[in-house]
Amino acid sequence: MSASSESGRLKVAVLLSGRGSNLAALIGAAARDLPIEIVGVFADRADAQGLQRAMQAGIYARSFSPKDYADKVTFEAALFAAVAISGAELVILAGFMRVLSAATVEAWRGRLINIHPSLLPNYPGLHTHQRALDAGDAQHGASVHFVTAVLDSGPVLMQVQVAIQSDDSAESLSARLLPEEHRLMVASVRLFADRRVRLLDNEIELDGQILREPLILGP
Ligand code: GRF
Repeated sequence: MSASSESGRLKVAVLLSGRGSNLAALIGAAARDLPIEIVGVFADRADAQGLQRAMQAGIYARSFSPKDYADKVTFEAALFAAVAISGAELVILAGFMRVLSAATVEAWRGRLINIHPSLLPNYPGLHTHQRALDAGDAQHGASVHFVTAVLDSGPVLMQVQVAIQSDDSAESLSARLLPEEHRLMVASVRLFADRRVRLLDNEIELDGQILREPLILGP
């Protein structure tokens, strides 16, 4: 990770496609004690609610529509040029519903994280809540992981767990998990802001030690 910003706060960019509740959690935490500066919020659709949240908080917000670009390569080049100009040291995918190309992921390696609503390596991809229910799992949860070229498969930094209840639907499970996701997001980003974590070849180093298992966020 590059040198800290002048204020000492970690500069982060958030990429999203929709609601932006994880962004809201970061905005709230930054207003309290999380030493980050959100330098930009970028969406792949102009109607993403997260853009409104950003603007209301006085954060630079911009959308890039893939249909305005000839192909994925030029779309990602434009998007990530703007991210780079923002000065972001860490890029957070928070409900960004696009698979980034291997070239982009490689260029931002170690500085790109994602939040995924499952206990990875279980259920990469979509419909994670329903898949956990269908499998009869006792536990569900969410993971914050480094992004690599394979979807939802990079090294996992931290997870939060929720117990599945017998009467859960995908909706009830997702609603119960969401506030836990927000805690997970803030706790994970805090490790970066405190300069405690970095990605080595394909392993995470935390406080100078290889992380053998994902951290589990307590209650
Ligand atoms: C979250 O469930 C996150 O885990 C997933 O997309 C959702 C984004 O929600 N990747 P929000 O836009 O932050 O409210």
